[in-house]
Amino acid sequence: MKSFVVAKSAGFCFGVKRAVDMALSLAGSRVCTLGPLLHNKQVVAKLEALGIKAVNSVEDIPGGHAVIIRSHGVDLETHRALIERGLEIHDATCPCVKRIHEIVSAESERGGLVLLFGDRGHPEVTATASYAENATVFSSADELEELLKTNPELADKRLIMVSQTTASRNEWDKCVKISKKLCTNAEILDTICNATNFRLKEALELSSRCDLLVVVGDRGSANTRGLAMASPKAALIESAGELDCAGLAGYERVAVTAGASTPPETIEEVVLKMTEEINATNTPVEEAGSGESFAELLEQSIKTLNTGDKVKGVVTAITPTEIHVELGTKHAAYIPLDELTDDPEIKAEELVKIGEEIETFVVRVNDVEGTVKLSKKKLDTVKSWEDVENALDTNVILEGIVKEENKGGVVVSVKGVRVFVPSSQTGLPKDAPMSAIMNTKVKLRITEFNRARRRVVGSIRSVQQETRRANAENIWSTIEVGRKYGGIVKSLTSYGAFVDIGGVDGMVHVSELSWNRVRQPSDILKPGDKLDVYVLSFDPEKKKISLGHRRPEDNPWNRFTASFKVGDTVSVKVVKLMPFGAFAEVMPGVDGLIHISQLSDHRIGKPADAVSEGDTVTVKITDIDMERQKISLSIRALIEEIEPESIPEGPDEIVAIAEEGKTLIATDIEETE
Ligand code: F3S
Repeated sequence: MKSFVVAKSAGFCFGVKRAVDMALSLAGSRVCTLGPLLHNKQVVAKLEALGIKAVNSVEDIPGGHAVIIRSHGVDLETHRALIERGLEIHDATCPCVKRIHEIVSAESERGGLVLLFGDRGHPEVTATASYAENATVFSSADELEELLKTNPELADKRLIMVSQTTASRNEWDKCVKISKKLCTNAEILDTICNATNFRLKEALELSSRCDLLVVVGDRGSANTRGLAMASPKAALIESAGELDCAGLAGYERVAVTAGASTPPETIEEVVLKMTEEINATNTPVEEAGSGESFAELLEQSIKTLNTGDKVKGVVTAITPTEIHVELGTKHAAYIPLDELTDDPEIKAEELVKIGEEIETFVVRVNDVEGTVKLSKKKLDTVKSWEDVENALDTNVILEGIVKEENKGGVVVSVKGVRVFVPSSQTGLPKDAPMSAIMNTKVKLRITEFNRARRRVVGSIRSVQQETRRANAENIWSTIEVGRKYGGIVKSLTSYGAFVDIGGVDGMVHVSELSWNRVRQPSDILKPGDKLDVYVLSFDPEKKKISLGHRRPEDNPWNRFTASFKVGDTVSVKVVKLMPFGAFAEVMPGVDGLIHISQLSDHRIGKPADAVSEGDTVTVKITDIDMERQKISLSIRALIEEIEPESIPEGPDEIVAIAEEGKTLIATDIEETE
């Protein structure tokens, strides 16, 4: 033999260790165990030597003695008998087994039928079944299939399927498939213990790398026998005395593992003997494992975990309430579902997969029960704090959701870390309500980080400014007359609106806002409004951009010329009186002029003698000046058409005078009659 390697999982599982520790702590007092504490003659003998004997039944417990319940647990009836006898009970039932008792009892109370996968007659299975009103035990996938097929009424009943902690995973997986296929209402709870699985997996893995697998343990232990049967390279020994040193010479590499009931001293004796053998043959010793001595490996496997430790493990099962994680130590580690994620919509299976490595945070270690509560959420938070702290050093931009607003600003949740953003750094205009960004995703930079005070400050504005600078550069390098932008109104003046086109502000003159008459921009706009604009002109040196909003295709002059011609009679509204005539609106945005001489069929002193502002009158279009965009209107022309001989003399030519885009009006015919 050139080298050997010892499995990290060799020896006591935490449930057995807990039971042995409990018994040893009671040495010296009057106590016995109900049945042998574990399947290992050496340990049972050691306990006997300390005065802790095993009895076979409740009646056999001597008076005045306390009793230890072993890790398999006891059935309900026995438990009641112990209580009835008024005995002091030290319950070493493994917490994993207890959890199954609780599940079975609760589900049974709710009317569920329990299907229990395991070895009939095994004390653990007998005990678990006793906690259900109605439990059916099956020991293979074939048996389950037969059961469901011959009792089809079960298919729609509420079924709860659990297993013995040390059941075969392969067989269990087959059972799961069958129940999913044949049942509509089965709840499947994976209650196989991680420790057993992990031990078996590791043994097989080591065996694939070595020439011989030495399994150390009592032949009466099912767990030990299971290991020995799993590999054709396995040889079972109960102690170092059975080790065939001469035989070892025929192997290059040897692996050592041990059952859950094998005490550490037995394994250590085997290891010592193998080490001596290697030394005696002067073969260079290849250190076990990754260069660690057995003592170190043993130490590692029983190492104490502490709250706050970051640990890596392998996901071994996902149940409706928790994730089981194998840490490679003698603990049953689990992540309650609410420690996995905050999002109730996300299923555990979407976040973790069986067999994948997961890094978690130790929340609580229960050395008495041998359990470790883990949290992924807390580790994520720890990591988030690191990320946020790094972001300060590296000036990296982070993303978060605005969760709260308060007097001084808002609180942004960045990967679960609360980052305060003062109102001046929110990027909102002064006096704008903080609620405008509530529950929105924002980008920000960290500007202050104080872990001790748990104070983190950030700035949204800093990111916005940088983005704006980059956008401005982009705009100036691509701007051209006619280019369109979706803008946001930043501020208003009496002569126009300043509009942000995504990093640069441009100005829309009031006359460019609408084809209709607009007295001042605030009549139709307010800061924050979205406004589609296009570039009229720009000056990169002076950094000035002149924008337009009204669209050429909406030009009312074009609409007017498309609809009206000289000679048409139209109804118009008098909008303004001037000394030389009256302006009237032909259509929105298009006015015409009714010269004073055209307001009536007789001479009048002033336009007000014929019409008033607001009057609607019928006029004839007498001229359209396409070049100057002026329209001449006449009331008189209409009257003359009706009574030509009664029209008094007037000027030969009517001159339309109008402002740009406006036209002349005529007075109400009725009034002139
Ligand atoms: Fe051991 Fe408990 Fe598992 S006794 S094998 S840790 S169920």
